[in-house]
Amino acid sequence: MSHAEDQEGTRRDFLYYATAGAGAVTAGAAIWPLVNQMNPSADVLALASIRVDVGALEPGTQLTVKWLGKPVFIRRRSAEEIEAARDVDLSALPDNSAENANIQAGADAADVNRTLDEAGEWLVMMGVCTHLGCVPLGDAGDFGGWFCPCHGSHYDTAGRIRKGPAPTNLPVPVAVFVDDTTIQLG
Ligand code: FES
Repeated sequence: MSHAEDQEGTRRDFLYYATAGAGAVTAGAAIWPLVNQMNPSADVLALASIRVDVGALEPGTQLTVKWLGKPVFIRRRSAEEIEAARDVDLSALPDNSAENANIQAGADAADVNRTLDEAGEWLVMMGVCTHLGCVPLGDAGDFGGWFCPCHGSHYDTAGRIRKGPAPTNLPVPVAVFVDDTTIQLG
């Protein structure tokens, strides 16, 4: 091979690789948005906060919504349920902590520390039994609140564990009224 041919060959190779390199960059740019869209954290972010219309909820009834893959109970309590929840001696509770993400850690399980409003009409809780994760039934159990049939955990009308194997109260997630009839979770 002559020196001139050798140089030409080198140039061709250089051009070839440069083109391939540019192609690779282009492909990379095209693929990135797809990869980005498939990233699960984008989905999680989209669902991290939801709004629920509670305008149609009558006292003494509840809604169950799915949030972050789990059921959330939103209950509009009747006057009797509020009274029953407030009439409890806190020293009788197996778990005397608020379990409420909206208030300072260390607060006790007084009914007012569990509800969304001071009057105690609105109670929002994760609908997941703190024993092994079943979904408790509403308007049930020995304390008129929730009952988990899996192993017999009884929660009162504030969602506090009163009897059975569940170790803690049903947790209250981050929740707030954003207008008169809309609750935002997260
Ligand atoms: S999961 Fe609820 S009592 Fe066991």
